[in-house]
Amino acid sequence: MATTTTQLLSTVTHRDTLPEGYARPESDRPRLAEVATDSNIPLIDLASPDKPRVIAEIALACRTYGFFQVTNHGIAEELLEKVMAVALEFFRLPPEEKEKLYSDEPSEKIRLSTSFNVKKETVHNWRDYLRLHCHPLEEFVPEWPSNPAQFKEIMSTYCREVRQLGLRLLGAISLSLGLEEDYIENVLGDQEQHMAVNYYPRCPEPDLTYGLPKHTDPNALTILLPDPNVAGLQVLRDGGQWIAVNPLAPNALIINLGDQIQALSNGAYKSVWHRAVVNASQERMSVASFLCPCNSAVISPARKLVAHGDEPVYRSYTYDEYYKKFWSRNLDQEHCLELFRGQ
Ligand code: OGA
Ligand code: NI
Repeated sequence: MATTTTQLLSTVTHRDTLPEGYARPESDRPRLAEVATDSNIPLIDLASPDKPRVIAEIALACRTYGFFQVTNHGIAEELLEKVMAVALEFFRLPPEEKEKLYSDEPSEKIRLSTSFNVKKETVHNWRDYLRLHCHPLEEFVPEWPSNPAQFKEIMSTYCREVRQLGLRLLGAISLSLGLEEDYIENVLGDQEQHMAVNYYPRCPEPDLTYGLPKHTDPNALTILLPDPNVAGLQVLRDGGQWIAVNPLAPNALIINLGDQIQALSNGAYKSVWHRAVVNASQERMSVASFLCPCNSAVISPARKLVAHGDEPVYRSYTYDEYYKKFWSRNLDQEHCLELFRGQ
């Protein structure tokens, strides 16, 4: 198994130059000097008593940005700190410990991997990640890493709370589209929940590579716990400008819509292109939680949204079909949803 561990970045220190296979061609580099910071990124206070205003803010954020940040979301800051700490501790484990969990097979439900899709991609990304299925928790937690000792307990508490928050947000997003509050949740069925614990080591040549190249998330909703100290997430605005999404408050969570919300909303809401860049001076972590339709869920534009003579932009499909298509491709190809356009 020795060959597998060499693929993990977090088991070796990289000093001066990128190893082979990570440098992007000139035309596909992050051009970090051209990235802007947008101070208008929506920050939504979920505890605001003015519920109609919160819904209106969510509508605007989803239409224009495809993502927003939330505060007063109900998850204690202390828990968020514990999640980050135990995640970092995991990536500090000795190579032998991590080797046991390594897999580059996307269908594995608990796996430690690197880059994105090692078997499909031609250039690798500067990231290791632990990917866990999280729902139902009782089914998966026994198989999760038992080292660090606190890992299962902290992460399962977080998963439970993040799920609640996600369902609440899907309700608000439904309302913001003029649909019944439970519309999206009903369509998506008993949603799966996946987690990617992302570790981006310090990178000797951050101008030449990505942590994650430009992609959209294939699921319904992503809740990202960002590193409070190190920036790296960037979002593409209309017109082609990349902007850095830096946490706006110490306990803010970053929400981004996935492809399935774009499809259900008949294209009104955007599953935006985003990417993670790396840097030479600091490692960076993030914990992404994905709410995913159940595999048999049939996704199509909400009838109410195509009732006024608008044509449905996307055909109907099952999430199973979509997800297989997503993982059969390279990450930064055309928007996967483009393949589902039409009747
Ligand atoms: C993801 C993702 C961004 C980040 O995991 O899908 O977009 O900042 N992560 O780690
Ligand atoms: Ni993403």
